[in-house]
Amino acid sequence: MDVVTAAASPESFACDALVVGIFQDVGPADGPAARVDKALGGVLAAALAEERFEGKPAKTAVLHTHGKIPARRVIVVGLGPKGQATLETLRKAAAAAILRARDLHAAHVAFSPASLAPHPAELVTQARVEGIVLGHYRFSKYKKPDGGEVRTVTLLAGNQDQAKLLEDGLARGLLTAEATAFARDLVNEPPNHLFPERLAEIAHDVAREANLKYMVFDPAAMDALGMGAILAVGSGSANPPRLISLEYAPPRARKTVAIVGKGVCYDSGGINLKKEDLQWMKSDMAGGAAVIAAMGALPALRPNVRVLGIVAAVENMLSGRAAKPGDIVRAMNGKTIEINNTDAEGRVILADALAYAVQQDAAEIVDLATLTGSAMVALGYQAAAVMSNSPELTGRLLRAAESAGERVWQLPLYEEFLDDMRSPVADLRNSGSRYGGAQKGAIFLREFVDGRPWAHLDIAPTAFLERDEGTGPYLPKGATGFGVRTLLAYLSAVA
Ligand code: BES
Ligand code: MN
Ligand code: ZN
Repeated sequence: MDVVTAAASPESFACDALVVGIFQDVGPADGPAARVDKALGGVLAAALAEERFEGKPAKTAVLHTHGKIPARRVIVVGLGPKGQATLETLRKAAAAAILRARDLHAAHVAFSPASLAPHPAELVTQARVEGIVLGHYRFSKYKKPDGGEVRTVTLLAGNQDQAKLLEDGLARGLLTAEATAFARDLVNEPPNHLFPERLAEIAHDVAREANLKYMVFDPAAMDALGMGAILAVGSGSANPPRLISLEYAPPRARKTVAIVGKGVCYDSGGINLKKEDLQWMKSDMAGGAAVIAAMGALPALRPNVRVLGIVAAVENMLSGRAAKPGDIVRAMNGKTIEINNTDAEGRVILADALAYAVQQDAAEIVDLATLTGSAMVALGYQAAAVMSNSPELTGRLLRAAESAGERVWQLPLYEEFLDDMRSPVADLRNSGSRYGGAQKGAIFLREFVDGRPWAHLDIAPTAFLERDEGTGPYLPKGATGFGVRTLLAYLSAVA
């Protein structure tokens, strides 16, 4: 799909479908809708009244124009009450409109101008483009999708100067949405096609295209570095693990941050075999996917900070070589871990990945992981959890998520949670009781960051929508690409 801008009025632009937004309390009485209604001789307002279309958020109505204006049809999309509309309202409305257009087999769709005081035109455009691209997304690699396909979207502007104003928002929206769609593709890819070595190859391709430094560690290299934790989790599978490292290093950067992702390409639970959720566990590399996708977008975003993207990629399987409950392994920082539950594998592999980030001199570390069912029990599908040793970093991440339109909610990291993660026979054990499970997982991770400012995003709630629950106009079933937009906003603000 191409998204472009044009200086033209909605009522004179030729396309298969023209999208106009309507506020619930304004109706077609004002703005682009009023101009289109006038050009149509009042039939738009009449049809909306007849259909009792109120302009509720993301609701749509369609009107054929029969040659009265060059657009073949008008898609009206609701924006809710004007005083309550946010950038997220526009994102969802744009997604709802593009989905309706695709259903109607419209190939060329034009969007009427939109504004939302006090938000600058750039952010308004970015949000709409994100809604358009992410709403239109589907994973079609293994099944021919039914319905149409939108080929071109034109964002209309009043004149040439205003069209120019849209360009920055358009570029930024495409960048974040396409990176998010890439993360979705990686997470939706089935586990027989996407295993650690393959994920490393894909990261290598990203590095080549984006001009990033790339390093990969195979089991022998990990052994030499003392990464006994990743090796233990990876040992049960026929597909060996990889530690993947990408580096974005602008010449004048003064700070290094590491973004670290859990890349469990398949989580069977290991010897502690899962009894449920097995069919969704290809999504257990969603943190790693978000890291790789965000890294690929950095050269175009150009934040002035050195960024290390580190992904521990493994398959958590069971076999004669698999880690057993009771095993004790040593992580790269020398700490010993009793593996008392092989299904708490994410924190074990992240132990080495975080220690590696410390060794690489990261001044600040953010990890993303589909770490616990507990976070899902706490938050449903509605928000990721953030836990951190730094209130300051937490604040920046919460603000980044808010501005990016992703929901993140803080959970407390009480010191007492560590008590349940102690082992009589090793420095730590990898699993405690169910209570406070997300926080216990997080405080285990904290033991591997050497006191550096660090934040952990438990994205198990938001990474993958199994049923219809939690879905929305631009959040389809399956992978969401959660975290990419927050990471890009956070990294833009570090610099
Ligand atoms: N990958 C799972 C967490 C998960 C579960 C994500 C369901 C998405 C949907 C993780 O590796 C896991 O199994 N966590 C255990 C930890 C427990 C054994 C301490 C959990 O949450 O049950
Ligand atoms: Mn697990
Ligand atoms: Zn897992």
